[in-house]
Amino acid sequence: MASSPLNIGLVGFGTVGSGVARILNESAELIAARAGQPVQIRHIVIRDPGRARDHLPAGVTPSDSIDGILADSETSLVVQLIGGTDTAYDYIQKFLAAGKDIVTANKALLYEYGVDLFRQAAADGRTIGFEAAVAGGIPIINVVNQALTGNRINALEAILNGTSNFILTEMLDRQQSYENALAQAQELGYAEADPAMDVDGTDAAQKLAILTWLAFGTEVSLTDCVQRGIDNLQLTDLQVAGELGYKIKLLATARVNEDRLELSVQPTLLRVDRTIAQIDGPDNIIAVYGDFVGKTTYSGAGAGQLPTASAVVADILDYATGRAAATFPSILRSTAGPSLQVQPPEELSRRYYLRLTVEDRPHVLADITDVLGRHEISISLVRQDETPEENDDGLASLVIMTHRTTEGKLRAADMELNQLPAVHGACIRLPVAD
Ligand SMILES: NC(=O)c1ccc[n+]([C@@H]2O[C@H](COP(=O)([O-])OP(=O)(O)OC[C@H]3O[C@@H](n4cnc5c(N)ncnc54)[C@H](OP(=O)(O)O)[C@@H]3O)[C@@H](O)[C@H]2O)c1
Repeated sequence: MASSPLNIGLVGFGTVGSGVARILNESAELIAARAGQPVQIRHIVIRDPGRARDHLPAGVTPSDSIDGILADSETSLVVQLIGGTDTAYDYIQKFLAAGKDIVTANKALLYEYGVDLFRQAAADGRTIGFEAAVAGGIPIINVVNQALTGNRINALEAILNGTSNFILTEMLDRQQSYENALAQAQELGYAEADPAMDVDGTDAAQKLAILTWLAFGTEVSLTDCVQRGIDNLQLTDLQVAGELGYKIKLLATARVNEDRLELSVQPTLLRVDRTIAQIDGPDNIIAVYGDFVGKTTYSGAGAGQLPTASAVVADILDYATGRAAATFPSILRSTAGPSLQVQPPEELSRRYYLRLTVEDRPHVLADITDVLGRHEISISLVRQDETPEENDDGLASLVIMTHRTTEGKLRAADMELNQLPAVHGACIRLPVAD
């Protein structure tokens, strides 16, 4: 006798939602074999049911209300693929209260409300699958929650925002400005119309916060993290870094440092020969350092319709096979231990790259080194390229590499540097990952 199908309520039929419908349709037989039953979309909820859609499953009429899913006792799994936090949270609470299990890709929601939602789901005997919420198609949630649980994780180092990585790659490869590379990213669909949360580091910091909770059992907020985006970088920074043997990446780091957790999302100089420096375009990478396994690295498509939908479909299969019911409760057990204290952002210690636009006249360098010296910041390299006479506008670009110092000392020095009459514009300050 054929098994009865697994019925899904799909909330959101945009990039990822329609990708899920496509995979469920194109791989229906394979998925049915792996699930042990046919998997079918029974409801679709969107904002605008009047708009024509590709990949709509036959026989399903989209609605703008979740009531049909809530009332349908034969739909046990809701795959929620809408963005934002407020409505998304409200919907998931209603679905959990109605006894539905959940799969979602919404990292902003999980950053804001994840721990509450997980507790609510576990208390009700329900599950939440969220593999697609961090690093799209890369199964990093599975790695941290299951594959590496024999280890204490010491550090995560990652590129978690494909849009920023694409822009940095385009800038360097095509020798173009940040603005042009951003426009190119938007044209190719790698950046949203409003890319603010991608380029200012928020998206990467939210994903890092989710991984930090799972890996270290410590709930953190964005204010615990030194966060800077790529939006102030200029091509010249990428070029100069290259000449010094580095690539600049938006690097997300969570590391246990003398029993405290340091958190940072910043454009960072990485030696060109490091694997992480070689991840280009929209791809993501995560290096996980475990106490017994050592360093393991995962890379691939961190976003995009089908890579993200592939992770969502894996969560659907985990639900269908009962794996989710077995593994979801263990997330709360694994994260239940004592939290780590978060290191205050100003104590973050790194070597730094500084670039200042300065008046090209005597004593300027002395004034700058005096400020740095008073803040106990020691210099390892100073570089000022010669300005050809025909281009001489009286300004010079000064690059300084420091020895290891703290974010706090640099912030204080930066404020003083910006007040020097000879310094024009903001100082660019980027850490170096050793
Ligand atoms: N795109 C990616 O590569 C990617 C990767 C990883 C994670 N994610 C996450 O996945 C989620 C979905 O992303 P997406 O790129 O697929 O977004 P999207 O293309 O903007 O699609 C969003 C869908 O949700 C629907 N929707 C929005 N608000 C709704 C509401 N209040 N009620 C009902 N439906 C609503 C929209 O309806 P209409 O179609 O009628 O507007 C649309 O179908 C987000 O949380 C995102 O962060 C995306």
